[in-house]
Amino acid sequence: MLALKSVRADYTTFQALFDVSLEVRQGEAVGVIGPNGAGKTTLMRVVSGLLRPTGGSIVMEGVDLVKTPPHRIVELGIAHVPESRRLFPRMSVEDNLKMGSFMRAARPKFRRRLDVVYELFPRLRERRAQLAGSMSGGEQQMCAIGRALMSEPKLLLLDEPSAGLAPVVVEQVFDLVTRLRAAGLTVLIVEQNVQQVLRVVDRAYVLKAGRIRAAGAAAELLASDTIREAYLGI
Ligand SMILES: Nc1ncnc2c1ncn2[C@@H]1O[C@H](COP(=O)(O)OP(=O)(O)O)[C@@H](O)[C@H]1O
Ligand SMILES: [Mg+2]
Repeated sequence: MLALKSVRADYTTFQALFDVSLEVRQGEAVGVIGPNGAGKTTLMRVVSGLLRPTGGSIVMEGVDLVKTPPHRIVELGIAHVPESRRLFPRMSVEDNLKMGSFMRAARPKFRRRLDVVYELFPRLRERRAQLAGSMSGGEQQMCAIGRALMSEPKLLLLDEPSAGLAPVVVEQVFDLVTRLRAAGLTVLIVEQNVQQVLRVVDRAYVLKAGRIRAAGAAAELLASDTIREAYLGI
């Protein structure tokens, strides 16, 4: 579904990604794990078109994303839940969800999509008139994910969805990955929360200092002493 080949990314004088190749197949949940500063957010941004790679190729179902503007990338079925959620705190939950939809709010399809999101997150329906900024961290993460789902994506990019959440809420966020897959979505998730993310993804890549250092089935990565000691810190 998505393939990155030898992707390079730079910020003015700093190279953030070196020769990154990875693949996500339809229906999979794939993790990218790595410490702070590894380049995880940069990787998400090059896929969603917010940052242009300086080398390599990114192809989604045969379409070259490197030449595609971000709004077209959304239309191709990729939705990005950014790091630290970036909700509009002074807008209601429902208005935040509307921002995730490029369908006009008057269209029947928009109502249907809203219903799908509210089915998945009954809590958001209850809170639909509440200001997003006044909700708990976990509820705000649900709202951010709900907003991404409004565009009816095939591939969901999740950038550290567990960051800053209480342990019990972190578990709910990871359970959600399983539910989203059951609903037919393909998921690419970047996380520092290594042990928990490896329990919900099929495969993972280890990113460190802008390079992929290891890759494999989630269970293999968890079981490998070498990888645990060298890269995962667990
Ligand atoms: N806008 C920027 N300008 C310069 N350097 C940046 C910028 N954004 C990120 N970086 C650097 O790129 C590297 C990777 O950052 P990032 O992708 O945010 O890592 P991660 O999400 O894994 O913590 C870091 O060293 C970071 O300091
Ligand atoms: Mg990051």
